[in-house]
Amino acid sequence: MNKKINIAIDGYSSCGKGTLAKELAQALGYVFIDSGAMYRAVTLHMMRLGVDVADEAAVERALEGVEVGFLNKGDQPAEVTLNGISVESEIRTIEVASKVSEVAKIDAVRTKMVALQQAIGLQKGVVMDGRDIGTVVFPDAELKIFMTASAAVRAQRRFAELIAKGDDVTLEEIASNLAHRDQIDANRENSPLTLTGDYRVLDNSELSREAQFSMALDWVNQAL
Ligand code: DC
Repeated sequence: MNKKINIAIDGYSSCGKGTLAKELAQALGYVFIDSGAMYRAVTLHMMRLGVDVADEAAVERALEGVEVGFLNKGDQPAEVTLNGISVESEIRTIEVASKVSEVAKIDAVRTKMVALQQAIGLQKGVVMDGRDIGTVVFPDAELKIFMTASAAVRAQRRFAELIAKGDDVTLEEIASNLAHRDQIDANRENSPLTLTGDYRVLDNSELSREAQFSMALDWVNQAL
């Protein structure tokens, strides 16, 4: 009854992976980890230092000064930290989004982040969302969900999110950023986003939040 499992949620950018992961973690009393936030924090560090993210050797050197962690917020989802300080809002900008896929394809960056993620997963009872969670980070996860939604729906959702935050962006800008990131994330050499046969596929283009949650919760109960 008290068995705890790890749940991997992978998929393209802005599919609502984080929303579902948070809801599941809260319902189950599990830890939610946004692995994308970790790559974003590394990217923010590079931007602050003025490191050219296309220069892999420079990124690798600067990586030594990066410590990514999480700040426990009790009932609320943990906030990602960069060298001990929460950067939760600084990492959600279009500037970071436009560089993060370049940074996330660098081997040294992935090795460092995956080691951290795997250490967190040892305790079980973790819901982690990203691109390679079910394939690389937790290949033995008891439940793997692959989320997808149409490109238009995803762009519209992310646009609404950023506008609500007061960001000055256009829908076209968001759509092209998403397409660019999908392209890199699914085609990079190291741990590309890949749909393998052991995932449950959840297309939420036309699903309500409640419907997607109840579908995922059924899968959790089957996996427990
Ligand atoms: O989920 P997100 O949009 O916050 O992720 C930001 C970027 O980080 C995304 O473009 C791809 C990368 N990423 C990754 O390569 N591996 C992960 N496990 C999570 C994110």
